[in-house]
Amino acid sequence: MMNIMNRVRLYHALLAILAIAAYLTGEIDPVHAWLGYGVSTVIVLRLLWALGGERQVGLMLFYPNFEGLKLKGAATHPAISRVLMLGIALCLLTVTGTGIAMDQGRSIGLGSAAERTSTQSPAEPRYADEGEDDEHEGEEHGEEGPLSEIHELAGNLLLAFVGMHVTYLLLFKRPLAKFMLFLPRTGKKKPVPPTST
Ligand code: HEM
Ligand code: HEM
Repeated sequence: MMNIMNRVRLYHALLAILAIAAYLTGEIDPVHAWLGYGVSTVIVLRLLWALGGERQVGLMLFYPNFEGLKLKGAATHPAISRVLMLGIALCLLTVTGTGIAMDQGRSIGLGSAAERTSTQSPAEPRYADEGEDDEHEGEEHGEEGPLSEIHELAGNLLLAFVGMHVTYLLLFKRPLAKFMLFLPRTGKKKPVPPTST
């Protein structure tokens, strides 16, 4: 039990750090994709872990059940936490899916190098004067257009969900949040009962 929760928070820390780093490096050419593949790897492992069958890591954890939701005490209803986790999960799947679809393994040396973009120069100049139809031919940026738009949208939405996730847990589930962050328990300490031997 303790063991599995320890693994959960290790996995959580790794996912959180990689995802934030990927977000921050959105425009830094190969590094961003490497971090993105790192995130994808963590997600795949998480899914396999869920299939392993332990209840604490099952995917039902992401299913918000609104049963018993009333105005009174609504702020701490478990459905809220789950809605935010589900939002994060869906954004992660979308952002990594579209990212990999755009990159097709190039950044990690897979994929057909025979394709026209064998070298992706990071500081490729854009032809700003070409007017409205920047989707035209699309050659300067490799495969772009709608995928790229969805990718960026999902990335920004991810950040919004993460912000709410963090804020919510810190406000309403402080002890759990601290546990997840490897912080020591603080606050009201129960008086230590005298040890009876
Ligand atoms: C730094 C502040 C953060 C805190 C305090 C925090 C705290 C928590 C806590 C307490 C849970 C368990 C919630 C529950 O079981 O009801 C959780 C789950 C989760 N968090 Fe965070 N989190 C933080 C940042 C992040 C970030 C940056 C991400 C970005 C990906 C993230 C993604 C997730 C996911 C996907 C889950 C579900 C865990 C699972 O797969 O089983 N969290 N978080
Ligand atoms: C948690 C995962 C990810 C996040 C949060 C994320 C976020 C972002 C964001 C916000 C941008 C826009 C940068 C900007 O122009 O300002 C971006 C661009 C890009 N990302 Fe990701 N990304 C992730 C994963 C990936 C993965 C896995 C790949 C590929 C393997 C990838 C490939 C790209 C590429 C090629 C661009 C530039 C295309 C464009 O101009 O839109 N990303 N990413």
